[in-house]
Amino acid sequence: MMNEDEKIVLNGEQEAALGVMMSGANVFLTGEAGTGKSTLVREFLRRCERECVVLAPTGIAALNAGGTTIHSQMMLKPGLLNPLALDPLTDGNRCRVLRMAKTIIVDEVSMVRSDLFCAMDARLREVASGVRKEMPFGGKQMILVGDFMQLPPVVSDNEERKFMDERLGGAFAFETDLWAAAMFRTVFLKTVHRQSGDALFRKVLNNLRHGNFDSAAKVLNNHCVGEKTFRSPPVCLCTTNREAKAINDAARMSMKGEARAFRAKVSGRFLEAEFPAEGNLELVVGARVMVLCNQRSEGVLECVNGDMGVVTGFGADGEAEVQVRLDNGKSVTIAPHAWEKTAYSQEVDPKTNAPVMRQTVIGSFEQIPLRLAYAITIHKSQGLSFDCVSLRLGRGCFDHGQLYTALSRCRTLEGLQIDRRLLPADLIIDESVVRFHSEMEELREEMPSGYCWYEEAMQYYLRRMKTGNGAAIPADVKQAEFDFSPRVYDDPALTELCRLHERGVINKYDAPVLAPLVRNVSAGVGVKESEFVTIKRLIAKYGDLPQPA
Ligand SMILES: Nc1ncnc2c1ncn2[C@@H]1O[C@H](COP(=O)(O)OP(=O)(O)O)[C@@H](O)[C@H]1O
Ligand SMILES: [Mg+2]
Repeated sequence: MMNEDEKIVLNGEQEAALGVMMSGANVFLTGEAGTGKSTLVREFLRRCERECVVLAPTGIAALNAGGTTIHSQMMLKPGLLNPLALDPLTDGNRCRVLRMAKTIIVDEVSMVRSDLFCAMDARLREVASGVRKEMPFGGKQMILVGDFMQLPPVVSDNEERKFMDERLGGAFAFETDLWAAAMFRTVFLKTVHRQSGDALFRKVLNNLRHGNFDSAAKVLNNHCVGEKTFRSPPVCLCTTNREAKAINDAARMSMKGEARAFRAKVSGRFLEAEFPAEGNLELVVGARVMVLCNQRSEGVLECVNGDMGVVTGFGADGEAEVQVRLDNGKSVTIAPHAWEKTAYSQEVDPKTNAPVMRQTVIGSFEQIPLRLAYAITIHKSQGLSFDCVSLRLGRGCFDHGQLYTALSRCRTLEGLQIDRRLLPADLIIDESVVRFHSEMEELREEMPSGYCWYEEAMQYYLRRMKTGNGAAIPADVKQAEFDFSPRVYDDPALTELCRLHERGVINKYDAPVLAPLVRNVSAGVGVKESEFVTIKRLIAKYGDLPQPA
């Protein structure tokens, strides 16, 4: 997935988009499937000198974008999240990474549920200091990447649905107040690259996006339904986990190598539908598999969620271990992994009598984190490209964007086979996404060219914010907010600097140098690392002088 990029030259609109991303603005990078959004992110990472963190809602999407999952980086538990009541960050390393990052990139944002979206904001404010705590996402540059015409976030039950509708405005990230507050500058990509060699297929996919079912179905039903010979073995895309499992099981049964079964250890409230891996995992030497979580061996990352490979052996004496040769050439040993499920409950705080939310572990699931990889669900395929796809619609699509996501994975009409004729009911489009898109179109027309969005957004926040003691924010503090060079917030030298200022021992030449530094420290925006030379000089010069009479 990653080395495909070597031969890619960005086109004009991608270069222009890169310019906006480089500007430091909060960006929503969108466009049809295959317009090169994820490719552009990888190019941005190569060119951008700021520290960036790339996140995605699922393991596979994270691998495709070259990052890690939001849950893992932000230390969030699976299940419903209450952004107002997260456990504090405990992992110092992950905390430092977040604090250092200037830019946070989130791919496949259409699948980021509103509670997760707001939890990211809470985490980034948690690690921020000074005025940045009051800013959306702790004042970091956010680059959201994705297409809301593709799959929506997963909402597993009515309780979750209710929480999000009532508390967050809905399950989509764009339905939250936070989305509006972060003032994303929307950048559209228009040229489809994934199906670049197939104009007819591009037209079909575009028709589906716009709800023109009949013209799209005519072509697909003529070209893709029925037997086909493929250039390479196709990946089966299924609507349900159950069907993907049946295909994988059949592939496994046809293999003659050594076989082994692994039973999951389940405790507490863990419904079968929520199992993050097979309850009974049956593997055979030679089978193609996908890794389901990051695994470390003595602190070193061995493999990540979404890696593909082939089973080469099992642990001796029935030990629960599987040897896998990954497609990247590395051989790894996969040991059991434990997933925890948590839930929120409302309790009354005995001291204040006020209701408080608590999060507790209610179940756990331990299994070898592998699955067979002959077939995957459409949900897990989002973001990937395949030469040959066998689409199993079976009883039909049930989710917004599901049909479009599935079809747009394939590069050509020729490489696509569908198990039955398409029905109008297969095309499901969520009304709130249609509304969001038309609002975005309107906004886009209003935006004057050459408009400096970042500056405007910053001014907006700074006008609304006050420093800790309620005073207006001085101009040089505003300047500090535009500067991406590394800053220091806590250091004994800064305390010493403020003491010098209070003691009034500074001469009239050094006073104008000291004043803005002290102002930035007390406003909580810290000082630039490069200013430390000056600070050290001032302390050396005045530190030991007695207070003037
Ligand atoms: N400028 C480009 N020139 C040629 N191919 C490109 C270009 N940008 C992207 N691609 C290819 O198009 C396909 C889809 O790109 P991807 O970044 O996955 O799209 P998206 O994330 O928008 O769905 C990939 O195979 C990628 O290599
Ligand atoms: Mg993508």
